[in-house]
Amino acid sequence: MSLIHPSILNSDTADLAGELTRISSADAAHVDVMDNHFVPNLTWGLPVVESLIRRNIMPIDAHLMIADPDRWAPAYAEAGCDSVTFHVEAARAPVVLAHNLHKAGARVGVGVRPGTPLSAIEELLPYMDMALIMTVEPGFGGQAFIESMLPKIRRLRALLNEQNLDIQIQVDGGVSRHTIAQAAEAGANVFVAGSAVFGAEDAAEEIAALRKIADP
Ligand code: DX5
Ligand code: ZN
Repeated sequence: MSLIHPSILNSDTADLAGELTRISSADAAHVDVMDNHFVPNLTWGLPVVESLIRRNIMPIDAHLMIADPDRWAPAYAEAGCDSVTFHVEAARAPVVLAHNLHKAGARVGVGVRPGTPLSAIEELLPYMDMALIMTVEPGFGGQAFIESMLPKIRRLRALLNEQNLDIQIQVDGGVSRHTIAQAAEAGANVFVAGSAVFGAEDAAEEIAALRKIADP
């Protein structure tokens, strides 16, 4: 089954709780944390995520595009995020970090930028619940889906099948009605969509449409 995680990056950030209510038919809200170091953009941090969790509207999928996740990521798990994704390029001790996130009760995601090969996460597969394949250069919403990432998704799906590992494959960046079918066909099953959902007149209808295309 495919899961839809709308990204609130380009939502009305003065009314985040209201925006979560608009997308509450989705499976989780994808919350992009950026620190202006790992990526050239800055969003929000732990206090905002904590207060969204307190509203108890829907599960929170935190995507940490930050330097030093070893230090900062466990607090997002302790705050009650359903899943916490850190980037392999930024983590110093990813196995220990994954263990700490699990201990704090979160599902563990590990992300790779478009230029990072799968070999960077291969050894970590047994420690994660979700692999995030970025289909844009992280930092901004509204960019075009990089189609050359499809073989990477396909290779990862084959690797998971080979090793009999039950790990979700999340794709993030440029996911829309026009690109979700290819990503699903390649083997992704968790879809982050920012501008597609928040740019739509009816967010719930867009979520339903994306779901239907991903799971025909
Ligand atoms: C980009 C973020 C994405 C972004 C996706 O760095 O990780 O989650 O919000 O936005 P769209 O769907 O517009 O590409
Ligand atoms: Zn993201």
